[in-house]
Amino acid sequence: MSSIYNFDKIISRYQTDSVKWSMAERIFGEKDILPMWVADMDFPIAKEITGAIKQRAEHEIYGYAVPGPKIFEAVISRMKKKYGWKVKPEWIAFTPGVVPAIYAAVKAFTMPGDEIIIQSPVYRPFWSAVTDNGCQPVNNQLKLFQDRYEIDIAALEDAFRFSRHSGLVPSQARVKMMILCSPHNPVGRVWTKDELMRIGETVLKNNAILIADEIHAEILFNGSTHTPVASISPELEHCSLTCISPSKAFNIAGLSASAVIIPNPELRKQFNNAKNGIVPMVNSFGLVALEAAYCFGDQWLAECLHYLQENLDFLMDFFQKRIPHIKVIQPEGTYLVWLDCNGLGLTNMELRNLIRKKARLGLEDGFTFGPGGEGFQRMNIACPRSILTEALERLETAVNKI
Ligand SMILES: Cc1ncc(COP(=O)(O)O)c(C=O)c1O
Repeated sequence: MSSIYNFDKIISRYQTDSVKWSMAERIFGEKDILPMWVADMDFPIAKEITGAIKQRAEHEIYGYAVPGPKIFEAVISRMKKKYGWKVKPEWIAFTPGVVPAIYAAVKAFTMPGDEIIIQSPVYRPFWSAVTDNGCQPVNNQLKLFQDRYEIDIAALEDAFRFSRHSGLVPSQARVKMMILCSPHNPVGRVWTKDELMRIGETVLKNNAILIADEIHAEILFNGSTHTPVASISPELEHCSLTCISPSKAFNIAGLSASAVIIPNPELRKQFNNAKNGIVPMVNSFGLVALEAAYCFGDQWLAECLHYLQENLDFLMDFFQKRIPHIKVIQPEGTYLVWLDCNGLGLTNMELRNLIRKKARLGLEDGFTFGPGGEGFQRMNIACPRSILTEALERLETAVNKI
């Protein structure tokens, strides 16, 4: 493929208040840490996005912003183009992030004590959005079968039927909501349409609300395809909130722009009420970046995905040949690689020490994602190949010394 962008280029991020780089020493307690934790990329973004931001900056007045028709149209045409999903403008609410949207949704649709299904190991704010709002997480733990994670549908049905924490009988079960990570961080699954249909049926059968976090939807490998769960049927549209954002795929997380698609007017009203006064609007630069990414960013995205796929292939090969005791759960999507380190025979703390102190890598401890994450580490591979190579070599050296 002919390329415009050079993803091999090393760009220092130390002077930019980057969470990933500036906080690494504090978080991991070591100097010279290679940070591969927070989910953003060490790549320069699409020139169309920088161009749009510069143009907006030149206006020189940065007052309150409200998304105009072009921003709505950017979201609508993206959903149509990518998934054939016909979204109406009135369905869309904008938020400065997916996490605040999830928190607002929990606040909107539950009461303290209610139960919410999540599927561990999973992105940590799913846990905190539930517990910070006084609700109870009900864990439908993912199952690892032949190196691929699957959803235990029978257990999901049970989770809805029998309220585990309250011990209520079926008719009184208090499971109000399920928060789905699709594609899934950290296990890298891109759920198939069939899997999503089965989740959807279960949610519908139990009159629950489905929050679908689809922030990683556009980062796909080896021909995987993403289906927005709500797009499967009008019934699923009716009971769901779909959180989307160009932030992960286009590397603009610091610009805080995301959208929530809520076809059901009653749910939309409750969601908007819950976020009013707490969740601010998207800022002017986030709005123009969102529009530029969705409307003009595809050349960059194709090149970026190509580079990420090569990073992934390189990493798979490296582990197989040089660090065979660590098994890579091959991601179908997301640039986050889930490493099964159980073959090293270490406790969680010994593994943490090996990664941080011996290898000097900033990876995420698997156990912090909840049950099923023990003995795993999550590695962000959205970086120049030379950095990835150095990280893998550091890990190899550390593992060889065990
Ligand atoms: C599944 C998932 N949801 C949400 C987020 C963060 O979303 P935001 O920055 O828009 O709040 C992340 C970031 O890593 C994520 O992996």
